[in-house]
Amino acid sequence: MDELPHEGEMAPQGEMAHRVSRPNDLDAFWMPYSDNRGFKSHPRMLARAQGMSYFTPEGREVLDGTAGLWCCNAGHGRAEIVEAIQRQAAVMDFAPTFQLGHPIAFEAAARIAEITPDGLNRVFFTNSGSEAADTALKIALAYHRARGKAQRVRLIGRERGYHGVGFGGMSVGGIGGNRKQFGALLPHVDHLPHTHGLAANVFARGQPEQGAHLADALENLVALHGAETIAAVMVEPVAGSTGVLVPPKGYLERLRAICDRNGILLIYDEVITGFGRLGTNFGAERLGVAPDIITMAKGLTNAAVPMGAVAVREGVYDAVVNGAPAGIELFHGYTYSGHPLAAAAAIATLALHRSEDLPGRARAIEPYWEDAAHSLRGLPNVIDIRNCGLIAGIELAPRPGQPAARAMDIFRKCFDDGVLVRVTGDIVALSPPLIVERPQVDRLFGTLSDAIRAAA
Ligand SMILES: Cc1ncc(COP(=O)(O)O)c(C=O)c1O
Repeated sequence: MDELPHEGEMAPQGEMAHRVSRPNDLDAFWMPYSDNRGFKSHPRMLARAQGMSYFTPEGREVLDGTAGLWCCNAGHGRAEIVEAIQRQAAVMDFAPTFQLGHPIAFEAAARIAEITPDGLNRVFFTNSGSEAADTALKIALAYHRARGKAQRVRLIGRERGYHGVGFGGMSVGGIGGNRKQFGALLPHVDHLPHTHGLAANVFARGQPEQGAHLADALENLVALHGAETIAAVMVEPVAGSTGVLVPPKGYLERLRAICDRNGILLIYDEVITGFGRLGTNFGAERLGVAPDIITMAKGLTNAAVPMGAVAVREGVYDAVVNGAPAGIELFHGYTYSGHPLAAAAAIATLALHRSEDLPGRARAIEPYWEDAAHSLRGLPNVIDIRNCGLIAGIELAPRPGQPAARAMDIFRKCFDDGVLVRVTGDIVALSPPLIVERPQVDRLFGTLSDAIRAAA
């Protein structure tokens, strides 16, 4: 602090300005979802990325077992995406989308609508998954109000659900640790039970057999609150951030049927499961049950520029837009909704998604991936393994009195040994870019298995 100019002094210029801003100092950046003190005493930096790998500032390669944060589905540094962003930055850096338009935002929406489930062909742009979640919830409320059902204000989530960090997504989300610092949250929210922990499902491959009945809890909430008070139910088709929970067979079907019977909108948060992660364009397709609204982000632009989106059924759009008096129909939007650089990145990413058939690649390698994941069964402290598409979750017995410590040791050892994995509590979650090949799958699980042994 003593290097900063005092009030009234001239700001330093040239060399001096560099010294004052101290660009390599770790203090200023309050890192998100991080152990800031731990990281800043033992930093792990990434400086470059290409294909399936990151590289540290020293040039050490780290195989990406997590597609960044579930988002670089086409692999890193894709020239087609880089060039599209560069071109667009030179042509038009920014233009508002409030009462104005620019062609590529419309093009990006049209390309998304080509791959969403039938009928979900109206697209609202956001900048993140969190914003997409809050936007979806607001659209659900506006939809009912437009149809004269303003009393439908209740939002239903699920225990262990993750819908980002906005007040809507956080409230409807069901992860206690994400809520406890932030007071009363949104009113009129309730939760379904999560689908984890049925003994019969341990080490299930793909969708587990047991647990469809857990969807019936929605009937209980309908009975408790009255159907006429409930606007929407939001779930992740496969819950990711909470540690990979794959929906039991028949579960989503039952949820859909109860929503239909009671006039409740079904929202899928496909921020992780969209764009090929489950071997199909969206998880809805793989799991065979379509929602009314889908949120997406991450893989939409291969994470090269932040962007999220909400795709809604035409009828939802029509109710809100055609039901409104002349003028603005939905009082919601972001300065950067449909940002030109993000739209350019999305168009280029969707072109790669199609030309390289990324969902097909994921499907083709899924059996090999599944076998590799389940080969960890029998290692010390491995109490469950779950998988669906190119996602795997390996659950470990916690060290007595030290929750999450074992998984964190595994994360650190894997990183030191050149593989990036993700941990949440005592669960290791894996989700590589969809271009992953067999030798890389072998290396990922080989390194992880060594780390699991070392942490025993
Ligand atoms: C299912 C789901 N929804 C929402 C989000 C939040 O997205 P963002 O971090 O882009 O706000 C995430 C992020 O991991 C997610 O997994």
